Amino acid sequence: MKKLLLAPSIIAADFTHLADEIAACESAGADWLHMDIMDGHFVPTITVGPLFVEACKHATNLPLDVHLMIEYPEKYLEAFAGAGANSITVHVETCPDLPQIINKIKSLGCKAGVTLNPATPASSLDAVLPLVDLVLVMSVQPGFSGQSFMPEMIGKVEEIRNKLDALRSTAYLEVDGGISAETLPLMLKAGADVFVTGSAAFKHPQGVGEGIRVLRNVIARSER
Ligand code: DX5
Ligand code: ZN
Repeated sequence: MKKLLLAPSIIAADFTHLADEIAACESAGADWLHMDIMDGHFVPTITVGPLFVEACKHATNLPLDVHLMIEYPEKYLEAFAGAGANSITVHVETCPDLPQIINKIKSLGCKAGVTLNPATPASSLDAVLPLVDLVLVMSVQPGFSGQSFMPEMIGKVEEIRNKLDALRSTAYLEVDGGISAETLPLMLKAGADVFVTGSAAFKHPQGVGEGIRVLRNVIARSER
């Protein structure tokens, strides 16, 4: 039984106290730091790039889970790997030659992930499911934290869980968007094992440490 992991999404953090926020995530027991890279083209928002990833690398030992919401991700794989990414996840919608990109990410020494927008069918991943280390299912439209969870994505998680199990894949099945104390159990039951959380963690009234502790308790209570 795989350990169930929590990956706080750092773009929801208070950037004026970034190192403190990262330390609070670590001491509260976060497993990864999820880093949302956005270019203003694939998604409307512009966030951060390799320099930010490098800064976070110096501030934590947590694995950096880089989520590329950018056009032409193949142009930036070396930069993010060099900045310290532990995993690099690309959108199927931005990769005409997905197997080639997945293999390139692996050649750089990073775990290779693939993700898909809510409107993109799970079948779009079939060619690379045997290759990837991670599948990320978006349960919101990419581009912003704080959006409402899309319950129709639960079925997609179940579908991809079944595909991965049929392949006897050890890939992580990560979910991202609107994950909270209420929605995490639904995605856990559907077969997810890594939970990205932005607002539910960082916007908790008692701070991100408490936000993470709450979600860790939800996981403990819901284990399949
Ligand atoms: C959306 C990002 C998500 C988002 C999560 O484009 O990929 O990681 O920041 O934030 P919440 O958990 O608030 O939906
Ligand atoms: Zn993300």
